[in-house]
Amino acid sequence: MANLGAFFHRARDREPGPQVMAAAHGRVNLIGEHTDYHQGFVLPMPIPQRTIVTVRRRTDYLVRASSTAVVPMVAEYELGDEARGEGWLDYVQGVTHMLARTGRSVSGFDLTIESAVPPGAGVSSSAALTVALLRALRIMCRLEIGDLEVAQLAQKVETDFIGAPIGIMDQMSCSLGHPGEALFIDTRSLHYERLPWPNLISPIVISSGITHAHAGGEYAIRRRESFAAAALLGVRWLRDAKGEALQRTQLPDPLDRRAKHVITENQRVLDAVDALRNRDPERLGELFNDSHRSMRDDYETSTPEVDALVSIAQADDDIYGARLTGGGFGGSVVMLAHAGRARAAAERIAAEYSKTVGVPGTVLVPEACVPSFGRV
Ligand code: GLA
Repeated sequence: MANLGAFFHRARDREPGPQVMAAAHGRVNLIGEHTDYHQGFVLPMPIPQRTIVTVRRRTDYLVRASSTAVVPMVAEYELGDEARGEGWLDYVQGVTHMLARTGRSVSGFDLTIESAVPPGAGVSSSAALTVALLRALRIMCRLEIGDLEVAQLAQKVETDFIGAPIGIMDQMSCSLGHPGEALFIDTRSLHYERLPWPNLISPIVISSGITHAHAGGEYAIRRRESFAAAALLGVRWLRDAKGEALQRTQLPDPLDRRAKHVITENQRVLDAVDALRNRDPERLGELFNDSHRSMRDDYETSTPEVDALVSIAQADDDIYGARLTGGGFGGSVVMLAHAGRARAAAERIAAEYSKTVGVPGTVLVPEACVPSFGRV
């Protein structure tokens, strides 16, 4: 009987499979920046923009992918021959490589990617792609992978295949977040809690138009500096360092400021969770402003353009607070607006930014129009 089952299974695999569609949302991090690789706290939330992938099983070992995400193009490779190049196909190769590395068998497939999540804008376009693809392959190949493991595999794609030394926030948000709810994550235990977003605050996300990449450069330098600071404070992760230890120990500059940012940012996340629960927009806004100051002066992940966008937002009467979101060195700014005033405020702030800085700012949230891809 078992043999017969295997026979039918193989016969079925010789036919191209039905189309499978899956999607994942991008994310905005509300607060908790550069804390996830120190086992700290983060508070991301999905944004409306999604990446949608369609896969269809092939009868060979080829992966044939086309993307409308960046430049329309088609690319292919054979399973088992994954090799890092440069560009979006690396994320696809990384996914099949990680599945094979964890003993999952995947057949070849045709893949189409459509994405409304802008790359390089600090809203997790790469995590949205890898999570959406893992979800689609999970269905196509009947793989037993839970949502948390999807996030962990997607993170490994970035750290082990792409070579970007990131934390797990983006992948957990893309895999486990629900639109309209903030996701409070303890990145040490990987416990998470979904917090309903209060009606009286409207989030705004504006892209500064300055794009970034985390596969090396400044992000990796900050990470190294922060671990050097942790070592001097006698802890492995800055999650375990206290403000008093920082005052007692004379760390050289800039390591003292790197540690200070992570230690204070962890506390700000906890305070922001309280403010969310207490529906206190003023307090949340203050925490956003403090977080930005810390990223600008202590962790030094901002840029003059992003600082200008944050200042314009903070000076606006309809805004409670504003800060750089994500890895930094460009990307987007997240703001908290009075309910019902977000759209007008976002347009006003983006226009002022474009005029004074000379780089076009793009309003990502609230969304101008939601492309309809149907329900997936
Ligand atoms: C990027 C990384 C995350 C996190 C943030 C900074 O988005 O992918 O893991 O480290 O930067 O908070």
